[in-house]
Amino acid sequence: MSHLRNQSVSNTKNMDSKIKTLNEKLQKSYIGGGEVRIKKQHAKKKLTARERINYLMDEGSFEEIGTLVTHRTKDFGMEKQKFYGDGVITGYGTIDGRLVYVFAQDFTVFGGSLSETHAEKICKIMDMAVNVGAPLIGLNDSGGARIQEGVRSLGGYADIFYRNVQASGVIPQISAIMGPCAGGAVYSPAMTDFTIMVQDTSYMFVTGPNVVKTVTNEEVTSEELGGASTHSAKSGVAHKTSANDVECLEDVKILLSYLPQSNREKPSDLTYDLKAEIRDSLSSIVPDNPNKPYDMQEVIKGIIDKNTFYEIHKDYAENIIVGFARLGGKSIGIIANQPMFLAGVLDVKSSKKAARFVRFCDCFNIPMLVLEDVPGFLPGTDQEWNGIIVNGAKLLYAFSEATVPRVTVITRKAYGGAYDVMNSKHIGADMNFAWPSAEIAVMGAKGAAEIIFKRDIKSADDPEAKWKEKEAEYANLFANPYSAAERGFIDEVILPEDTRRKLLKAFSMLENKQVNKPKRKHGNIPL
Ligand code: HXC
Repeated sequence: MSHLRNQSVSNTKNMDSKIKTLNEKLQKSYIGGGEVRIKKQHAKKKLTARERINYLMDEGSFEEIGTLVTHRTKDFGMEKQKFYGDGVITGYGTIDGRLVYVFAQDFTVFGGSLSETHAEKICKIMDMAVNVGAPLIGLNDSGGARIQEGVRSLGGYADIFYRNVQASGVIPQISAIMGPCAGGAVYSPAMTDFTIMVQDTSYMFVTGPNVVKTVTNEEVTSEELGGASTHSAKSGVAHKTSANDVECLEDVKILLSYLPQSNREKPSDLTYDLKAEIRDSLSSIVPDNPNKPYDMQEVIKGIIDKNTFYEIHKDYAENIIVGFARLGGKSIGIIANQPMFLAGVLDVKSSKKAARFVRFCDCFNIPMLVLEDVPGFLPGTDQEWNGIIVNGAKLLYAFSEATVPRVTVITRKAYGGAYDVMNSKHIGADMNFAWPSAEIAVMGAKGAAEIIFKRDIKSADDPEAKWKEKEAEYANLFANPYSAAERGFIDEVILPEDTRRKLLKAFSMLENKQVNKPKRKHGNIPL
């Protein structure tokens, strides 16, 4: 007996020392590149990778994978510089109780640069996310390819890119850019569904200011070239700008709340008390003068559940609004012309912006609401030379192939080809409503009168008066929703104040919509 007891004491001692070794290793991993570099990170107003994960995930829910991974490089004395984790923290946990996979690059370890093993860690959780069916969130903060590893690091990037594409349309992928993101590294976020950038501390570019200066002789700062404002307003690469790290992580959480776990599910419903709500009338929003702008945001506000609109690409192509909202507690995607900017016209940028959003909603079973007030496509050499044909076609194609429930409300103008493109009945929309203020025609009455009554106007004693008379005649005939309603192109002409109720019913009726499409490998969207 006493022999056995002694053995158990010696076993415990052995285990204690092994646990001590493990704890020492874990502690080393937890401090990443060390206190000095953590201080530097904080001095730049950036949280560390671990702090970011702690803020993002439900308390205590994060489970790390690959805590003790190290790189395998021996060149340039790298075998003496090893950090557990190798510059990226990977794992899974929950946000608002829902499973997500996350990686956070640790700038304190080799500047968060991507080595072969760093890439392997990311790929491992990407594969799990796809197989399990849960969103992937990447918190990017990296000096790019680990310079000491050469092509092994480039291969690591390509392994990630490949997985981004395989995961596209299967699980939502969100990229937060919370530090540098340069060179080919930008292509992983670019292939994910949403990119959120932190103001002042993040940038994205294929080649930095020094290379730009050498090649083109342009002088530009990192911020101007690829900062958050640039990518939010000019390039459209960023879907959202956040003021700081905390706001960025909050943005990730809000965005996720509208999305399903994968394409195998629908977004979860929130409970909503329809009986408790009081609504302002929408009747006075559209002005009597058809050329006067009004704010489509007011229409959105008047229709959706209170304070639920989360706008995407807010500062890019402001003539179209896209974003998520809730209607009776259910997640919907909204695509709306904005008469306040360029009269709500469709142009190259707004077509691309809306097309991308439509495709996202369709991938992830999010019903779409289109609010339409569009005078047509923007004319001019700038638009034609920049490909309004092929870019407008992107939106037409995206709507035409979407199979989620699709409802349109025409609030005022629906002119020309833009009428067809903006989720018309002809391209597969399910329910199309129009307000009595709707004008659905080939073109505006003034231009139409000038063309079809050209001779009458020219030969009249008072051409100006004749033009006005013919304009009124045309407007009377076509600047209304009734000709379209008579043909069934519009299902119902509805009162503005009834819109919310009609939409609640329409989306509820469409909930189990299914469309069988002919078998094909994939379509050929005009890219
Ligand atoms: C290895 C790197 C690194 C890298 C930074 N570090 N970038 N180590 N590979 N790519 C290390 C630094 O040596 C330093 O180590 C620490 O990270 C912090 O870097 P600093 O320069 O001190 O930080 P800061 O002044 O904030 O500047 C950050 C930076 C700069 C702008 C990102 O480090 C930089 O320009 N790095 C190189 C960027 C680059 O050219 N990457 C390759 C791009 S090509 P210590 O030990 O001092 O803490 C590419 C191709 C991808 O990425 C293609 C995919 C298809």
